[in-house]
Amino acid sequence: MSEINFDWLNKLPKVELHLHLEGSLEPQLMFALAKRNSVDLPYKSLEQVQEAYQFNNLQDFLNIYYQGAEVLLLEQDFYDLTWAYLSKCQQQNVLHVEPFFDPQTHTARGIDFSTVINGINRALVDGESKLGISSELILCFLRHLSEDDALITLQQAVPYLDKLKAVGLDSSEKGHPPEKFSRVFAKARELGLLTVAHAGEEGPAEYIWTALNDLQVSRVDHGVSATSDQALLAHLITTGMPLTICPLSNTKLKVFSDMSEHTVLEMLELGVCVTVNSDDPAYFGGYMTENFVALADSLAMTKAQAKQLVSNSIKSSFISLESKDKLQQILADYI
Ligand code: ADE
Ligand code: ZN
Repeated sequence: MSEINFDWLNKLPKVELHLHLEGSLEPQLMFALAKRNSVDLPYKSLEQVQEAYQFNNLQDFLNIYYQGAEVLLLEQDFYDLTWAYLSKCQQQNVLHVEPFFDPQTHTARGIDFSTVINGINRALVDGESKLGISSELILCFLRHLSEDDALITLQQAVPYLDKLKAVGLDSSEKGHPPEKFSRVFAKARELGLLTVAHAGEEGPAEYIWTALNDLQVSRVDHGVSATSDQALLAHLITTGMPLTICPLSNTKLKVFSDMSEHTVLEMLELGVCVTVNSDDPAYFGGYMTENFVALADSLAMTKAQAKQLVSNSIKSSFISLESKDKLQQILADYI
């Protein structure tokens, strides 16, 4: 452990920019919803869940993650899922969040787009009024599906544009480069949405270039493969392009063999705008605080580095300049 302890990191004001709501489905809620909705799960106990949550790569995880999402059927289920995540944020002093959701995971099972977004939105509105947590919602397209499927999903989202800030791109990265989705991202931008994309998680640095050039993203989700391309690193530094890094996810999915190998603090020291996030906390062993704790434990992160990481998240968020200034002041006052 470095100069920091759990309590200091838990109370540190934080902002989360890379969180899949479906990935925040804790086994306890999964079991409760399975019972409520009469859905069969392949697990009978918490021990069986823990046994299943051992992953060798992204695809191993995604198979289990899509299966877990099958317990989500009704608007109230999406509300409960989102509310549980926000409650955790309150416990960990996360003040602003920009979560992802995967509508195609649900519409493919016959659930209405409106059911999904209305449940999530109602919880986010309550999160602001009852917990004081502000939010902006990001719709992710599943990259293992076709661009035509993504275009249909974008069309379904048009009546709900006031509830969305951006579109993103997630799921199986290898073999599904960002440029496969150039047309749907262009349409999303025409509709006034910002864009982000998972790139360089398991895929090559080249996918980060095409996310930047073809999809015109405002942030790169993950982006850890950037360290293999010096020209790209220099470009990220000069443009201030944010990377939403997810340390526990990267070690759980064996992108890095051990947390001591993680490059996030090296990139921070080089001047890359890196941020810390939890990705799929119910599957990867922790929320925001646990991700920061892992960096303190394995990489001797300092308090100054932790505060710089949060400051980068505030800078990279999709809120107004005035709201950013308020959060930066709250962060500066924390010692
Ligand atoms: N969907 C949920 N988590 C993901 C991740 N880490 N990478 C790609 N797609 C995802
Ligand atoms: Zn992710």
